Amino acid sequence: MAHRLFEEKHHASIYQKYRIIPPDSVMEIILEYLNKKKGPPHELAVDLGCGTGQNTRLLAPHFQKVVGIDVSESQVEEARAVPGFANVTYRSGPAEELPFPDGSVDLLTAASAAHWFDAERFLIEAGRVLKPRGCIALLGYTDDFSMHYGSCGEKLNKIFAEVKQVIRPYASPRVAIANSKLQALFEAIPFAEKERIERIAMKMEMTVAGMVGFMESFSYCQTYFKNDPQAAAALLESMMTRLLEQMGVSSPDTKLEFTAEYYIVLACKPQ
Ligand SMILES: C[S@@+](CC[C@H](N)C(=O)[O-])C[C@H]1O[C@@H](n2cnc3c(N)ncnc32)[C@H](O)[C@@H]1O
Repeated sequence: MAHRLFEEKHHASIYQKYRIIPPDSVMEIILEYLNKKKGPPHELAVDLGCGTGQNTRLLAPHFQKVVGIDVSESQVEEARAVPGFANVTYRSGPAEELPFPDGSVDLLTAASAAHWFDAERFLIEAGRVLKPRGCIALLGYTDDFSMHYGSCGEKLNKIFAEVKQVIRPYASPRVAIANSKLQALFEAIPFAEKERIERIAMKMEMTVAGMVGFMESFSYCQTYFKNDPQAAAALLESMMTRLLEQMGVSSPDTKLEFTAEYYIVLACKPQ
């Protein structure tokens, strides 16, 4: 059964607002791999566990058609509300049962999502829908982030780590799969041509409010909210206050530098 931790409208709207977008280098690596292994035409890319479509939209310039699929209707609704991507459509449904004919997909991606899939059923389905030489690209990041602001970066990271510590008990065991950089899933891919690229640096500006919102978007923070809404709200409020205090500023719109490391699992279906 699919994991249903991302169903609520509020969670979907936090996703749209606060989730981070993969850096250009990630999409460049994926497209280079697809070009090297399969080459054109690039007719159809499918983004699985698309959430509110951050990764799906990055595929739009490179494919004739892009389809984002997510098991949560609320996430798909938010994704559909983003205008300006004529070749992108969204459907709700599981990654393990895809609405595409055999051998029809050039590229299957999943951004911060494959750890939620039933690995065995997903890999069988991927093997079915991919064209010969079609590729899989599963990307993500571990929850080992860093903040930088003047000389107080370490203190900000400590606050983040302390908040994470409080919500960690509410994490699904699936979060550990993402933090393992999909090790077991990588090993289970039945294609001979596969590789895992690690430590792809991403750096972006984020506001303090954005940092707190990003934390709120974590599935385990949402589980904490369900268990104890008052304590969860107080935790995020105190996170905001402590970050602002350390930075010596009062506006939640103050920007800090945020860094993370992406990984990509790449694989190519045989001819
Ligand atoms: C952590 S979110 C990532 C969303 C988006 N790709 C991003 O990068 O922000 C994981 C998403 O996977 C979806 N999901 C979980 N299990 C799924 C499954 N079996 N099939 C399709 N989507 C699934 C969830 O509903 C959620 O929207």
